[in-house]
Amino acid sequence: MAFFAWGKEYETGIKEVDAQHKKLIELINELYEAMRCGKGMEVMGKILSDLIKYTKTHFTYEEYLMGTYGFPELSSHKSEHQGFTSKVLDFERDFKEGKVGLTVQVMNFLKEWLANHILKTDKKYVPFLKSKGVA
Ligand SMILES: [Fe+2]
Repeated sequence: MAFFAWGKEYETGIKEVDAQHKKLIELINELYEAMRCGKGMEVMGKILSDLIKYTKTHFTYEEYLMGTYGFPELSSHKSEHQGFTSKVLDFERDFKEGKVGLTVQVMNFLKEWLANHILKTDKKYVPFLKSKGVA
């Protein structure tokens, strides 16, 4: 079984958002596998940077949707995104400098953060965006 399994509970019903969430989960699973199989720093570093890049693309997309349709909780949502991004960037820097390793704790943090964020924060914009015709 995958480290982070996609489940119905994560579904927002907004096509592009669901596709992007699935891709993020896939990248987290890839990173977990690389760690589990004892892959080198280079391999893990590459997946980590892909994950960060794709996370930014995804956050930008969500913020664009919320901004376009005037979602009232955009700014608090945005700060959650920023908080996560800066934590992961700090981790990436320390990882590349050899100060910290990729551990199960780090992997659990990524998984828990994304799962909670989808379930609690992303779900808040769903009825609003749907009422605006976003599908
Ligand atoms: Fe979000």
